[in-house]
Amino acid sequence: MTTRTIGVALLGLGNVGGGVVKLLEANAAAIEARLGARLVVRTVVVRDPDKGNRVVDVDRSLLTTDLEAALARPDVDIVCELMGGTTLARTAVLAAIAHKRHVVTANKALLAEHGAEVFTAAEHAGVDVYYEAAVCGGVPIIRVLREGLASDRIEAIHGIVNGTSNYILSTMTETRRPFADILKEAQDLGYAEADPTLDIGGGDAAHKLAILVNLCFGTTVDVHAISTEGIDVVDPIDLGYAEKFGYVIKPLVIARAHGEEADSPIEARVHAALIPNNWLLADVSGAKNAVYVQSYALGPSMYYGAGAGMLPTAMAVVSDMIEISRNMFARAGAHAAPRPRPAVARPLIPLSDIKTQYYLRFGVSDQPGVLGQLMTILGAHGVSIAQVVQDGARGETVGPVWVVVLTHIAREGNVRAALGDIDQLPFVREPARVIRIAGR
Ligand code: HSE
Repeated sequence: MTTRTIGVALLGLGNVGGGVVKLLEANAAAIEARLGARLVVRTVVVRDPDKGNRVVDVDRSLLTTDLEAALARPDVDIVCELMGGTTLARTAVLAAIAHKRHVVTANKALLAEHGAEVFTAAEHAGVDVYYEAAVCGGVPIIRVLREGLASDRIEAIHGIVNGTSNYILSTMTETRRPFADILKEAQDLGYAEADPTLDIGGGDAAHKLAILVNLCFGTTVDVHAISTEGIDVVDPIDLGYAEKFGYVIKPLVIARAHGEEADSPIEARVHAALIPNNWLLADVSGAKNAVYVQSYALGPSMYYGAGAGMLPTAMAVVSDMIEISRNMFARAGAHAAPRPRPAVARPLIPLSDIKTQYYLRFGVSDQPGVLGQLMTILGAHGVSIAQVVQDGARGETVGPVWVVVLTHIAREGNVRAALGDIDQLPFVREPARVIRIAGR
């Protein structure tokens, strides 16, 4: 009996594309045994076939610049988009769907920005679009939410979903080495996006959060409406204070349903946060990712692993190819695809209305009455203090002294109003540093 084959077209041969080629070779026998078929790369669409220094050696005859011809090949069943970006990638994915090819993509930006268009086109064409690698690299969080927790109601998620930011903050915490050096290291290790401001500024995490929100809460959020802050607000001074208070600072995504109804409001935000150092998420270091899910029936559960890097991400991509192949063999077709739930409109709670605890670091002159005035203004805005520390006086000429405040749960709008008043005071030497605190 001849072995069945599934033909694959790869679009892109960068870090992840190279990993896919490598994994298909390395695990060929195991994949064939599990699937009862071989996954065969028929063609690889690249910008420059003559480019040197590729992460894997690929038969030169497989390389092409002709996207249309690649998509039209009758021996291609699955198109695997690993180019990144949202312009050419969108055109390519829609063209693949128009050719009735199943699609695997690792492109979170594409799905966060154009997911509705892509999934609608796929539905009409009757093809699958799988995207496990788009969120948390090799951690199968999409399958967990879509299948494992399909019967549960998700109440909240806290996630570390950007490996580069986590690598930078973890390494800064451990070594206090400069930000720029550590970023360069993350780039060399293949964790960072082509444009690393997406990692550092929180944009990559927001893309992933938009995808998670859809799976968790059955609604489509405009990724640009998600409050997004980068890790560049974190100074090594804050890492030190966090440690003293029993916290670590992590790059988090947070989403929560406010109410049990299908159309209850939700909150969704991306920012660095202090988290208690005895929480499971506190141990998620380096480029590792994790999503801590709080759901009605299961309670807390956490999904952890490599969120970036060549082989972990390639693993998720190839597993999607296997799943699509199984669908093809079972003739389950598009109905088995991890298509997001039909979206229900759910209001996104404005950032000013969220309630959480805050870490505030004030740089002030060391003079009588300062502490009292800070506390009075916070109190006047309804912000209650949990802990305060002032570092020993360093004298007017040396620089500001730090007054660090941890608040009880407060409304963001009230905290910001208080800080607006405080920053006007004559003894304030630099704007207050604000980092939210998150917990279970
Ligand atoms: N740049 C991303 C990260 C890659 O650092 O997590 C995986 O999406």
